[in-house]
Amino acid sequence: AGGAADFVPEGADLDRLAAAAAGCRGCELYRDATQTVFGDGPPDARVVLVGEQPGDVEDRRGEPFTGPAGRLLDRALDDAGLDRAACYLTNAVKHFRFTAGEHKPRLHKKPGVAHVTACRPWLTAELAALRPEVAVALGATAVRALLGPRYRVTADRGRLLPYERDRPRHAVISTHPSAVLRARDDARDEAYRGLVEDLRVVADALR
Ligand code: URA
Ligand code: SF4
Repeated sequence: AGGAADFVPEGADLDRLAAAAAGCRGCELYRDATQTVFGDGPPDARVVLVGEQPGDVEDRRGEPFTGPAGRLLDRALDDAGLDRAACYLTNAVKHFRFTAGEHKPRLHKKPGVAHVTACRPWLTAELAALRPEVAVALGATAVRALLGPRYRVTADRGRLLPYERDRPRHAVISTHPSAVLRARDDARDEAYRGLVEDLRVVADALR
């Protein structure tokens, strides 16, 4: 497939982008998922948070970060002094990729580089419409989508990185909230604190 580019209307605002994305067939993921989960948030958001892909809950509700990872992210944003309602939340890949046998629960499957590449025109269009000050990449998939293959979560997280275009002016890398949920009991608090610390860098950049 040629990716999402054929489906992205030029110069569109967020509402038109979301409507167009509902019909995207830029890769095969639309076939098994319930619906496109486009980004959500106010058009004047100064911060855009980018996750990996919708989870099981998001796939059914049609809204990003409304499941367990979203609840953890809400708390982390709050602890960092950021207002979730003022942020725009989206994902590198807009359809839920999963494995499922018959009668089995759907299990998250990491999107491949081809899916990230196919879906990237939507993220680019969202950033062009929003022109935020800071874009936050949560986890390796978002880092790839936003900044390319040269950046790494562990090496590059938690500082203001220049972005190649004038908006967003900066990118900040952090871990994915799902990684905090998956951490072993004795490592979870530290993983959570790391996420909050990185988000504080974002909050400070807005002052
Ligand atoms: N994880 C993500 O990366 N995005 C969501 O929207 C939900 C969970
Ligand atoms: Fe289109 Fe992205 Fe969905 Fe693939 S994952 S069909 S590129 S919206």
